[in-house]
Amino acid sequence: MTDSRFPQTRLRRNRYDAWTRRLVAENKLSVDDLIWPIFLRDGTGDPTEVSSMPGVQRVTLGGLAAHVETAANLGIPAIALFPVTPPERKDAEGTEAGNPNNLICSAARILKREFPEIGLIGDVALDPYTDHGHDGVIRDGYVANDESIEVLCRQALVQAESGIDIIAPSDMMDGRIGAIRRMLDQSGLIHTRIMSYAAKYASAFYGPFRDALGNAGSLKGDKKTYQMDPANSDEALREVALDIAEGADMIMVKPGMPYLDIIRRVHDRFEVPTFAYQVSGEYAMIMAAARNGWLDEERAMMESLLAFKRAGCRGVLTYFAPAAAKVLSR
Ligand code: PBG
Repeated sequence: MTDSRFPQTRLRRNRYDAWTRRLVAENKLSVDDLIWPIFLRDGTGDPTEVSSMPGVQRVTLGGLAAHVETAANLGIPAIALFPVTPPERKDAEGTEAGNPNNLICSAARILKREFPEIGLIGDVALDPYTDHGHDGVIRDGYVANDESIEVLCRQALVQAESGIDIIAPSDMMDGRIGAIRRMLDQSGLIHTRIMSYAAKYASAFYGPFRDALGNAGSLKGDKKTYQMDPANSDEALREVALDIAEGADMIMVKPGMPYLDIIRRVHDRFEVPTFAYQVSGEYAMIMAAARNGWLDEERAMMESLLAFKRAGCRGVLTYFAPAAAKVLSR
C-alpha cells in the first residue's frame, strides 16, 4: 500500500549525491567546445588591457606566441583573430582588409608555424578597417551589398592564403557565403571552411568589442540595415537556410545568451554544426558583477557556457575559453 502522503516518483533521488548527478547529466562542457577570440594590435610592447573587458588584452605579433601557448597546452581547438587597425591604415573602402600583410594575415603565418595543431578562424567584415566603422563600403549613404561582397571576397582570399582555416563572415551582406565559397574554390582553397555568422543581431552587447578595436567613437549611425532585428526569430531560420544552401560548413548565432532560443530552433531544424558567440558584452556583464562580489565568477562562467550546450551548440566562441579550459582540466 502506498501512502498517498508521499510522492511515488522523487526526482530528487537522482540528485542525491555527486556521483549520481554526474551519471545522469545530460550535457557536458569540454575543452573541445571552446573557441578563443583574441585581439591583435600593431607595434611592440606589453599587451594592453581592454578596460571594459577585465582580463582581456590586445597583443602584438611579437607577444602572440607566448599569449597563445597556455591555450594551446590546455588543448583549445581553435582561436578567432580580431585586429586593432591603426587609424592611419583605415579608409572608407576598408582597403587594409585585403592587404596580405595585415595583422590577421601576419598573425596567421606566425601561428601556423608555432602551433600547427590549432585551428584559425578569421572574421570577415570591414569594420576593423573602415574609418566609418561599418562592415561594408558605403554608396549613397547606404552600406552597399554587392560592392561590399567584392571587398569581402578579397579579404577572405588573403586570409585563407596566409593560413586561416575557417573563414567567418560576420558582415551580414546577402549572398556573401556563396560568393566567398566560389572564390575559394576557384582559387584551389577547397579545404578552407566557412563558419557563417548566419543569424547576427544588431545588438547592444557588442559595445566592449568596439572599445577593444577602438571603433566605439567612429561608428557612424548603427548597423540595423544589415544586422538582424532582435524582434525576429523566423527570419533567423531563413538566414541559416540560405547560408547552408550557399555552402556554409558551420553556422553561428550571435550574441549568445540572449539568443538561446534561436540556437535551439536552428539546431532542431538544420543538420549543421551550430555555434554561438558569447560576445563582449556578455563577458563584461559577468565580469563586472563578479568584480563587484555580486556573482561567483567561476560558477557563472561555467553555467553560462553549459547553457550553450543545452541549447544545442556544438561549440562556443568565448573570451572565457582559457579560464574555462583551466577549470575543465582539473
Ligand atoms: C565585426 C564583428 C563584431 C563582433 C564580432 N565581429 C562587431 C560588430 O558587428 O559590430 C562582436 C564580437 C563581440 O562583441 O564580442 N563585424
